[in-house]
Amino acid sequence: MPRLLLRLFLGSLALLAPCLAGGDAAAQAPMGWKTGPEAAAIERRIDRLLRQMTLDEKVGQLHLYGRREGFDYGEIRAGRIGNVMNFVDPVEMAAVQKAARESRLKIPLLIGLDAVHGVSTYFPLPLGQAATFNPALVEEAALWTGREARALGINWTFAPMVDMSRDPRWGRLLEGAGEDAHLSNIMAAARTRGYQAGGVAATVKHFVGYGGGEAGRDYNTAWIPTEQLHDLHLPPFRSALDAGSLSVMAAFNSVNGIPATAHKGMLTDVLRRQWGFRGLVVSDFGSIPELMAHGIARDEAEAARKAIAAGVDIDMMGFVYSRHLAAEVRAGRVPIAQVDEAVRRVLRVKFHAGMDTINDIDPKTAESALQSPPALDAARRAARESIILLENDGILPLDPARHRRIAVIGALARPDQERVWTDPAGVPRKPLESLDAALARLLGSGATVSYQPGVTTYCGKEFADRAATVEAASAADVIVAKLGEDCEFMGEGASRTRLTLPGVQDALLEELIGTGKPVVVVLATGRPLVLSHLKGRLAALVQTFHAGSEGRTAIAEILTGAANPSGKTPISFPRAVGQIPVYYDHLPTGRPETKGRFRYESIFMDEANQPLYPFGYGLSYTRFSISDLRIETPRIDPNGQLKASVLVSNTGSRDGQEVVQLYVRQPVASISRPVRQLKAFEKVMLKAGSSQRVSFTVPAQALGYHNAAGRLMVEAGGFEVHVGTSSLTELKGEFSVSGSTRDGVRLRP
Ligand code: BGC
Repeated sequence: MPRLLLRLFLGSLALLAPCLAGGDAAAQAPMGWKTGPEAAAIERRIDRLLRQMTLDEKVGQLHLYGRREGFDYGEIRAGRIGNVMNFVDPVEMAAVQKAARESRLKIPLLIGLDAVHGVSTYFPLPLGQAATFNPALVEEAALWTGREARALGINWTFAPMVDMSRDPRWGRLLEGAGEDAHLSNIMAAARTRGYQAGGVAATVKHFVGYGGGEAGRDYNTAWIPTEQLHDLHLPPFRSALDAGSLSVMAAFNSVNGIPATAHKGMLTDVLRRQWGFRGLVVSDFGSIPELMAHGIARDEAEAARKAIAAGVDIDMMGFVYSRHLAAEVRAGRVPIAQVDEAVRRVLRVKFHAGMDTINDIDPKTAESALQSPPALDAARRAARESIILLENDGILPLDPARHRRIAVIGALARPDQERVWTDPAGVPRKPLESLDAALARLLGSGATVSYQPGVTTYCGKEFADRAATVEAASAADVIVAKLGEDCEFMGEGASRTRLTLPGVQDALLEELIGTGKPVVVVLATGRPLVLSHLKGRLAALVQTFHAGSEGRTAIAEILTGAANPSGKTPISFPRAVGQIPVYYDHLPTGRPETKGRFRYESIFMDEANQPLYPFGYGLSYTRFSISDLRIETPRIDPNGQLKASVLVSNTGSRDGQEVVQLYVRQPVASISRPVRQLKAFEKVMLKAGSSQRVSFTVPAQALGYHNAAGRLMVEAGGFEVHVGTSSLTELKGEFSVSGSTRDGVRLRP
């Protein structure tokens, strides 16, 4: 919804491109927590300001208001709006900044935007970034996104989203890092560091349990046992906060019956008391008045009271703090100390982030900060590594000697046809290369590349010139079909019960397969679709999670072999919707599947238990072998570290990258433990024919679990280690943890 507003006025922005600012954005000092005397000086400054501020000015700091037609800049000048969002137009941004400087206390504004996977230069969706298994690259993506946002005057982003979900029915799966807690922790930290180094304060969201909504329906109720909350849902938040995230966003959903926006146990007891978080918490869009719909507040004033008492400092577009807080304080129903504490946290973030030292945007230097060559280069590298090769019968890489006529089919092959829910559309962009143009360029003059959209734009709802499409396909040596989900089929409010290709795309694909020509399908989706019906019928299957500005070029590089695929599935691909949730680190059950289709085991009558493509899976044009697993620490204590190494060899004929994955299992403990869990991974580049020993270190405390009281336990006993190139790996070793007690070891007291 906020993006809709954004789109309404961004059309004018292209005309103003030369006026955009921030040429020296690259030189910004990273944002983050200050320490020692600097931090103490900030607290003294906040004390002074709190003494000077009127109640209305205090409430203004807790109010976040979005850009709209007729926005009254006088409200900023009067100190009644302390934070804004969705401004990107440089003329309006300059007016916003000027108004803040003209306010009585000259307190800087938080100027927020959802810079989810880019601003002007687009990177793969976060789910695709996770598929790279390359945290340094993901950090770089967030860095460029932060820099571009900062160049437009934005100093705060509502990202990273780190919600854990194992439910591809949920449209917002694409904003996270997939099903695995370890991978999500690593990505949460990388993205946080990148954004803040780029000059925008990060907001880790949505706290907590938003990805656990029943049936994958957006905003739905989440019931999450304490153990799972602490083992799965909370760790990526902790990881982002350890990486310095200055703010947190509360979630829309209720978790275990309590709406997250009023969840004192989470927002105050866990976040602030246990974890020591000193930054601010912002509500989600209108989530404070939604406490009435949740059925825990009779009116707006009660919703405001409950939210601020729980620990929500800023009301995003709910207008209930601005309408009711001052009166509630005057009536004695909200203690002024509660308001002061919330204001203190907001000011703390502003001053630790150095927001009052940010220069107004400089109209002259803006363009150079958007889609700069190094940003596009980073986007190309990220796109390449995000692409997952799921199937290949040997047709890829394309060979110009054999594949002379290529028919590219699908509107998504053209950049202007691809609409991704998370893009703040309208920000100036240079023209991008189409898939057909990139293939023609890379295959050279020996090949002929034709293009047919196949479907009308907008989610492939209808055929576009069906006869011409089939004719072009029939005349080709190879069909490359770029299909998928875009527009309303992905993102917020886009939960689905059928995970098929939207519109007529499945029918189109059947026609293409029906030509008898080899079909290479390139998918651009926001989630894993159900692809079982295509098994064995395609020449190759390539998965992307909308690979961004350089995506089509990177896809062409992969298809032609200019780049070797190295992406891995960050989430299991279900065979059928009825399997969901299907994830690799499940518990064993008392009746694990051992005999195949034996009725009294934990199986389905009509479908396999296993996903179609498991977590951590992805093919390459070369072959890797992993051998000689050495456990260097066969016995460790609970404060020690597991050290292990393997020999990785590229036994094929091409250079390539492999993600070497280390999984651990505790076969016997006092509670049932997952069949395996990822605890470490390394992405290595190996020349054809070469080998390398790859080492891993895993702290023993990462082997623990939380009990029903939310306490971390590391239990003594034997552990298995599995190392390989996907979650199915067979290579196995053993070690043990000793010295701990059955009471466990407490971490981070
Ligand atoms: C989303 C948030 C987002 C906010 C502002 C909400 O609808 O849930 O993730 O940051 O809008 O755009």
